[in-house]
Amino acid sequence: MTNLTPVPSLTELVRSHTDLDDEDVAWLQLLQADWQIIADLSFADLVLWLPDREERGFWAGAQMRPTTGPTAYVDDVVGTFVPVGRRPMLDAAWAQRRLVREGDPEWRDDVPVRVETIPVRRHGRVIAVVARNTNLLGVRTPSRLELSYLQTAADLTQMIAYGSFPNPGQRSDHADSPRVGDGFLRVDAAGRVAYASPNALSVYRRLGLSGDLAGLLLADLTRELVPPRRRPDEERLSAVLGGRAHLDTELATDQVALIVRAIPLRPEGDHIGALILVRDVTDLRRRDRELVTKDATIREIHHRVKNNLQTVAALLRLQARRIDSEPARSALEEAVRRVGTIAIVHETLSEAVEEQVDFDEVADRLGRMVAEVSAAGDRVRVRRDGRFGVLPSEVATALAMVLTELLQNAVQHGYDPSAGPVEGPGEGPIEGSATGHIVVTVRRLVGRLHMAVDDDGRGLPAGFDLDGSTNLGLSIVRTLVESEFGGQLVVGPVPAGRGTRAEIDVPLE
Ligand SMILES: Nc1ncnc2c1ncn2[C@@H]1O[C@H](COP(=O)(O)OP(=O)(O)OP(=O)(O)O)[C@@H](O)[C@H]1O
Ligand SMILES: [Mg+2]
Repeated sequence: MTNLTPVPSLTELVRSHTDLDDEDVAWLQLLQADWQIIADLSFADLVLWLPDREERGFWAGAQMRPTTGPTAYVDDVVGTFVPVGRRPMLDAAWAQRRLVREGDPEWRDDVPVRVETIPVRRHGRVIAVVARNTNLLGVRTPSRLELSYLQTAADLTQMIAYGSFPNPGQRSDHADSPRVGDGFLRVDAAGRVAYASPNALSVYRRLGLSGDLAGLLLADLTRELVPPRRRPDEERLSAVLGGRAHLDTELATDQVALIVRAIPLRPEGDHIGALILVRDVTDLRRRDRELVTKDATIREIHHRVKNNLQTVAALLRLQARRIDSEPARSALEEAVRRVGTIAIVHETLSEAVEEQVDFDEVADRLGRMVAEVSAAGDRVRVRRDGRFGVLPSEVATALAMVLTELLQNAVQHGYDPSAGPVEGPGEGPIEGSATGHIVVTVRRLVGRLHMAVDDDGRGLPAGFDLDGSTNLGLSIVRTLVESEFGGQLVVGPVPAGRGTRAEIDVPLE
């Protein structure tokens, strides 16, 4: 295998080389979900060996390095094959269905490695072998912590061999599930603390404990320190903190939040106690809360901006009604419409989770709005072809302005009967029951956005010159497209059809 080959997944390896069924795979995946704990408690690398279909040997299906000690494997072994006879301990664990501990250290690149092999049993059948590889250069005179870790690791490996670990029952998929290094406790069958790692002790000190943990009933202690409203119900609390259920839970005081996870230990079948991991998640939870409030604040601001813009629009509309001069009035009405466009974007943002806008929704709303307020009214249909998708809010605001102006022009100059007599090849204002069709075509290309607004109206006036046009609408569009986006605007007749096409092409990050 070269370094360039992607590492195959456990499922792929099982499918191509073994006879294991889907439930076996599910069992191995469940084991894999928790075996970081065993690697850490053992200070050892774990490799999951899968039996070859033709019984020629074993395939390395998965691998886990310890975070508590040096690795015994510099290179990845997943996907490699070991034939029968080369690693007698693998063969022995498989054939004799027992833990194999005896044997001299193996030397790998000048590193002495102690190997133990553990049969993985599911419903009485052995389905794989786990090899535990300890880099002996990392082994110091064991302290109480190390002895406790190793003892617990031994209990868990025993359970693997008996088929009582992993536990298919209740396991939550907390991404923030505690690790051994976060805080480790060992409780006896009664739920009394037999050993607590220094980190576990610190966690309980933060919770309000003043003395030592050893000898205390963990469930009782926790009940004393944690107010009832911040802890799980009685049943769950005693199940987890008493170490009787394979479960986790979260508790908190006003200062501290923690996750507690229990793995009951039954190495010989009888419950002898549990491994309990605790993790202080105060900072994580605080950050979660801050994110929630920040999001809510941003949404509220957009909501207010929208309301303010609508107030401005209403004032302008009021003003427009009082003015006698027709040009002045229509200018104010235009302003009302432009302000309304920006309000729509803020309204969408006030409902959005992030500073991202689903622009298809905005575009469709603008299309309806423009058609509704136009003189051609319900005889103009606006249709969208293609998706804008999600856009950052700055882009969305500018693009909404551009789209509104182009739609407005199409409705106003393409079909409005009051827009003057028809010239040129187009057939002019829609008459009778005819309907005008405006199509917004969108293409999102890599790093670019292309949009065309086509109408089938009367077409551009003779001698139309975009560069010479000084009217406000297209000037706004041009400024936004060219200066704001660094893109291009083209306005001309629809190729091989009637009406006008306004096209923009803008780069997007
Ligand atoms: N879809 C179209 N069909 C026909 N003529 C159009 C179309 N779009 C633009 N035009 C022509 O281009 C001119 C310039 O458009 P522009 O949007 O800049 O100004 P306007 O629409 O006249 O005024 P406003 O500033 O209110 O938008 C229009 O007056 C019209 O003659
Ligand atoms: Mg216009």
